[in-house]
Amino acid sequence: MQGDLERILFHETTILSRLDQLAAQISQEYRDREVTVIAVLNGSLMFMADLLRRIPLPLKLDCLSVASYHGRSETSGEVIFKQIALPDVTGRHILILDDILDSGHTLAAIRDKLETAKPRSIRVCVLLSKKKARAREVDADYVGFEIEDEFVVGYGLDFMERYRNLPYIGVLRADLIQQSS
Ligand code: IMP
Ligand code: MG
Repeated sequence: MQGDLERILFHETTILSRLDQLAAQISQEYRDREVTVIAVLNGSLMFMADLLRRIPLPLKLDCLSVASYHGRSETSGEVIFKQIALPDVTGRHILILDDILDSGHTLAAIRDKLETAKPRSIRVCVLLSKKKARAREVDADYVGFEIEDEFVVGYGLDFMERYRNLPYIGVLRADLIQQSS
């Protein structure tokens, strides 16, 4: 699989030491409030598991599953919620976890949907944020790494559902993206 990458951006040790910092910041800021974490599957799976084990606070966890990509490397703008019932967020302090902030469509749709259930607060935490103009405005309160506008895979992030199990994050070779479209 490593041969499919143009280059590695973040090795596992780099990711985990950044998670130590993020977890410390989150733990400090939520020390007096019980947080309900809502993880966006499947992309945030590794991130969620490694981050939450570093937060020594009582917390609740729920997961959401959405589709916005339909297998291509461009976002469609339409965000489909895959479950019937939304997590119970009313009156709670919500922390949304996602793998990557790209166009902003996904996180804006999730934030808007959760807001209709009147949580006490909503914050957003992403492992990666692409430096680009967003189609929809999303303020991420916690960001692991800012990256250039390139297509990345690994550590939960996929291309057509592959590469999620790579323990590091890298840029996918452009010819592999073109071949499949
Ligand atoms: P957005 O709606 O454009 O912000 O896209 C967010 C979702 O698109 C993420 O949760 C990912 O599933 C996917 N995505 C965006 N950029 C990448 C990338 O570079 N690699 C893998 N998935 C990506
Ligand atoms: Mg994806």
